[in-house]
Amino acid sequence: MNSEKVNYLKGDDETNLDKNIEFIVATDLHYISPKADVDGELSEICEAKGDLKQMKYASEIIDAFISEVIKYKPSGGLIICGDLTYNGEMVSHIDLMTKLQKILDKGINIYVIPGNHDIKNYNAYKYKAAQKIPIKSVSPKMFKEIYFNCGFKSALYRDKYSISYISQVNSELWLLMLDTNFYQENNWKNPVAIKGSINESTYEWLEQHLKEAKEKNIKVIAVTHHSLVDHNDLLNKGYTIENNQRLVELYAKYNIILNLSGHLHIQHIKPGYSKKIKNKKIYDIATSSLLVCRNQYATLTYEPKKSIYYKTKVLNVSRWAFERGILDNNLLHFNYYSYNYAYSQTYKKIYYELLRRNLSEYEAKMMSSTLSKLNPAFFSGTVVEIYRIIEVSDNYKVWSLVSDIFYHKYIDSIMKERKYDHNTLKLSLREDGESFGSVIWNKAKG
Ligand SMILES: [Fe+2]
Repeated sequence: MNSEKVNYLKGDDETNLDKNIEFIVATDLHYISPKADVDGELSEICEAKGDLKQMKYASEIIDAFISEVIKYKPSGGLIICGDLTYNGEMVSHIDLMTKLQKILDKGINIYVIPGNHDIKNYNAYKYKAAQKIPIKSVSPKMFKEIYFNCGFKSALYRDKYSISYISQVNSELWLLMLDTNFYQENNWKNPVAIKGSINESTYEWLEQHLKEAKEKNIKVIAVTHHSLVDHNDLLNKGYTIENNQRLVELYAKYNIILNLSGHLHIQHIKPGYSKKIKNKKIYDIATSSLLVCRNQYATLTYEPKKSIYYKTKVLNVSRWAFERGILDNNLLHFNYYSYNYAYSQTYKKIYYELLRRNLSEYEAKMMSSTLSKLNPAFFSGTVVEIYRIIEVSDNYKVWSLVSDIFYHKYIDSIMKERKYDHNTLKLSLREDGESFGSVIWNKAKG
């Protein structure tokens, strides 16, 4: 066990414990190095698969993001919830760390955990001249070495049985960076495990330190790659941590009220409920992938003894491109481009499948257009803003013609939670009465 105590905020002392602490939260950057995607072929491969990730501009998106992090200069630092690379290529990790170093050089802390794509990934390839050539991924040890200055070096406690660690932000706040990945059994036949789990030894390590935090009245914000709870009826298996209720109960026992996750690529907020402790719930916020529409990250403000406030922010790629004199029209009108990309990727995927179901071209067009509007909104957590228009449209009604198709269930699962705002959440830290952990502000309810 490591017991260094280094990772304080700059200049922290007892006098600034009342100050707000700002974090930026981003996830699923899926960066690929030009050394692995030599001629930029990957974007076409992803586009052909109907993937919503914008691999064509992955590098520009990350550069624009780094520039915004430096401008914002969050006093607490940048939290990344895993899937740093496309498929765990060692060259991508090394190149990404070179980019992230610019943030560290400005005195901003970074805390990373791996995602399921980052370690021992047998799908790590170099793309060149229409060929896929296997290249090196990284071991857990290499991952820690590459990102040593992004949380590992200054961690208060490190787990021996995973890449989990705990960082002390100040004497009242810890960050729990919990590795939920299951890469141990990856091999050529099963190149990358999607599922997430926590081993028995890590649970012991975790409980020991959460107990200490509770005894000292230290607040803990938890971060995982996999979801703490099921966010969607269809996106559960492989996405939610296995036996997740055990972690929910542990968080409940030690007063953790917030878990930040990634992995789903959608923007979604949902609470998990303790079955053992009455009225205890823990909010899991799945931040959407930085590479999918609407290319957002979040700010998280910790207001001591008052609140934790999470709010998403759309990355301003256009301004970044304009300031650099870049003439690419897609970058200069990036929000528009990004939405159209997500719309057309969805449309292509659905339309041809619907035609195979003996629907008329007209019906297929109507139905594809509904889902193509809903899908980017689902990924951005903004269904609440458009569901009324969708519900009353004739295009939506045509979907009743094919109730047995997967996409029908998909639409139902999206519309089921249509009234919730998934982009803001303010939780109370007040210790009086029942208010600790309760929702102060959520746009849809507010
Ligand atoms: Fe991902």
